[in-house]
Amino acid sequence: MMASSPSLPLALNPLRQGAQQERTPDPCVMIIFGATGDLTHRKLLPALYNLALERRLPQNFSVVGFARRPYTDETFQAEARESINKFSRRRPVQEAVWEHFGKNIHYVQSNFSDEEGYKKLAELLAKLDQELGTKGNHLFYLSTNPSDYPTIIHNLGQVGLGRQKSSTEGWSRIIVEKPFGHDLASALELNDTIASVFRENQVYRIDHYLGKETVQNILVFRFANGIFEPLWNRQYVDHIQIVVSEELGVEGRGPYYDESGTIRDMVQNHMMQLVSLVCMEPPGTFDANSIRDEKTKVLRAIQTLTPDEVVERTVRGQYGPGMIMGQPVPGYREEERVPPDSITDTYVAIKLFVDNWRWAGVPIYLRTGKRLPKRTTEIALQFKQPPHSLFNAPGTPPLEPNVLVLQIQPNEGISLKFGAKVPGHTMNIRPVTMDFRFGQSFGVASADAYERLILDAMLGDSTLFTRRDEVEQAWAIVTSILDGWKLHMPPKFPNYEAGSWGPKEADELIERDGRHWRRL
Ligand code: BG6
Repeated sequence: MMASSPSLPLALNPLRQGAQQERTPDPCVMIIFGATGDLTHRKLLPALYNLALERRLPQNFSVVGFARRPYTDETFQAEARESINKFSRRRPVQEAVWEHFGKNIHYVQSNFSDEEGYKKLAELLAKLDQELGTKGNHLFYLSTNPSDYPTIIHNLGQVGLGRQKSSTEGWSRIIVEKPFGHDLASALELNDTIASVFRENQVYRIDHYLGKETVQNILVFRFANGIFEPLWNRQYVDHIQIVVSEELGVEGRGPYYDESGTIRDMVQNHMMQLVSLVCMEPPGTFDANSIRDEKTKVLRAIQTLTPDEVVERTVRGQYGPGMIMGQPVPGYREEERVPPDSITDTYVAIKLFVDNWRWAGVPIYLRTGKRLPKRTTEIALQFKQPPHSLFNAPGTPPLEPNVLVLQIQPNEGISLKFGAKVPGHTMNIRPVTMDFRFGQSFGVASADAYERLILDAMLGDSTLFTRRDEVEQAWAIVTSILDGWKLHMPPKFPNYEAGSWGPKEADELIERDGRHWRRL
């Protein structure tokens, strides 16, 4: 075992180091556009309820749902309670918490394009500010179809709800859900639309991967320890593999997914975030802009791909029918509301380079897909072999390389593989693993990513949100791939069976370099 378990729960452990003071946000109102939608019910309301349960919300707090359906406060409250009972990390709803939380939920019924609705909203917010003492602190959450974002932003501007306020007037912030644009041009346009009403320091572009404990731990692992960072570069690292595999298919999200594909759904956002956290330089200080400066530098160092490079360095796939956990599942083209001749990617493998002093020449292989054999997200750094091998008998295969794996989910942890002598009279060497598991060492369940991120936005901490330049740079890389794909016919889809590890071309992509995908 690499790490021993603290014997006390973390919160009580007097030896806990580097602990930050827990802060409670200012009294505020959170306004959810798209309040009757799936994300609100599965994630946002349960996250808020859990924060209330843990007393992380300010005492004076209210939620206002804004959507088209003809609901009253009471119908929305009843739906909220039902969703929390169904999806919350902690359930069922506790009466004592609900009593205060539930009665502070309100609803404004309106079309997103109707200016009257925004006037009603402004009146309600003024009333709540008076009654609750929320002091003009408003957190807007865009959880609608992205095509509604410009209309909502424009209307918030029209009724004066978006403006940067003076410190005595409270604050106004906006969280913007993914997808953030469809390509570089649309992302630039959306950023301009947002900037016409909100200043950048009011904008919180959410990527739920950054709310995951294990993703944040990449920074801690790298920069709170002295022993790994000296090895974290081209001198010692042979290559990096990042995988995000899912058993799930498109889960009834056919129309969204078919427009998006895996490259937009997973690579542009979540995987690019993982790449930048793994490859960034240590920031001077742990503040939002220093960290985001370093992450953005990594993305700038990834060259956009020419159409020829797209052919050489990317593989797209789409699943056909197959078996997942012993059950037959349909192919992508047979999924609900997916065109039977769709050429959308449900699998992508990419080889990237970060062209800077630290990483030049070190390939970073990404692969992600739906309907793969298991759900796992991990980052593996494979180290170079020792310069001179003492233990290889002539004609025997080389010893297995050292691999450091950051396991993001499930079984969150970190492991290091190295060679050890097998007990006995001969010099036999076998790979063994040192393992650290979050669950075992800390014994507490992680909060949902949305809990952390919503709380951070209320606290005005944008460290775990993507900045304008960051999102645009990620789109520049992905758009170069999309442009390359447009010039070349897609492969004959489907090209992998549901329940397999993806198309054979993806194996060839890495095997051409004399390397292999890790067996997961
Ligand atoms: C979402 C994608 O952003 O991330 C989904 O839209 C995907 O398609 C999901 O399934 C994966 O998130 P997680 O947290 O389950 O790894």
